Amino acid sequence: MSETVKPYQESGSKKEQVESMFDNIASGYDELNRFLSLGIDKSWRKKTIARLQPTDLIVLDIATGTADMALTAVKNHETRKITGLDVSAEMLRFGQVKIDEKGLTDRINLVKGESESLPFEDDSFDAAMVAFGVRNFEDLEQGLSEILRVLKPEGKLLVLEFTKPRIFGFKQLFQFYFRFILPKIGRWKSKDPKAYKYLFESVQAFPDFENFTAILQKLGYQKCQYTALTLGVCAIYQAYKP
Ligand SMILES: C[S@@+](CC[C@H](N)C(=O)[O-])C[C@H]1O[C@@H](n2cnc3c(N)ncnc32)[C@H](O)[C@@H]1O
Repeated sequence: MSETVKPYQESGSKKEQVESMFDNIASGYDELNRFLSLGIDKSWRKKTIARLQPTDLIVLDIATGTADMALTAVKNHETRKITGLDVSAEMLRFGQVKIDEKGLTDRINLVKGESESLPFEDDSFDAAMVAFGVRNFEDLEQGLSEILRVLKPEGKLLVLEFTKPRIFGFKQLFQFYFRFILPKIGRWKSKDPKAYKYLFESVQAFPDFENFTAILQKLGYQKCQYTALTLGVCAIYQAYKP
């Protein structure tokens, strides 16, 4: 199992600390993401959503945050419905404003809750997705097992998550940006000085590439595979419920 990295202090629950951290940074979250990733985060989300099938009509977006994945997934797909779930009430509040502005309240429903105990029946969703969320789970295996439970048989899981680049040269360059530059900008621009230090540390401690697909496989997912994006800065993981 990976080492547990928490945003503020070693003692206390990770869930509560993660919830407070995202509540703190919610108001500037979208803007700062675009800035720090030079807008590339949008294309990562689009590439992940492109893997949904047109027949994936009932979709769960775990760790939905400000609902970017949900909003992109209903675009150009008139019959798809999304349930977005998140632990942070503030992230959901900003997500709800975007959904209301686009008139999509009948297509996207936001729910406050945690992945480790999902308030849904077994076999409910055609597909589930988690963008930049699994790393924050208090209990990774419990969260992924719950998603498996609520997926329909043969339902698809898509996970988008940061990884540690392995290409020599780029790896060192990116680590320098990620470890030293990004937390400085985050400290200056975000409402929580610890948030972007936590981002770096949590990515370092999190299982990536074949280590993450091995966990999915162990939990009972099938056809587990990954695709590295942007020279291995992040990856899309894909797996199915048997
Ligand atoms: C980095 S944000 C990603 C938000 C969104 N998916 C995106 O792509 O922008 C991570 C989100 O995960 C949520 N989160 C963390 N742990 C969670 C858990 N155990 N269950 C549900 N949501 C969780 C946080 O509140 C936060 O909104």
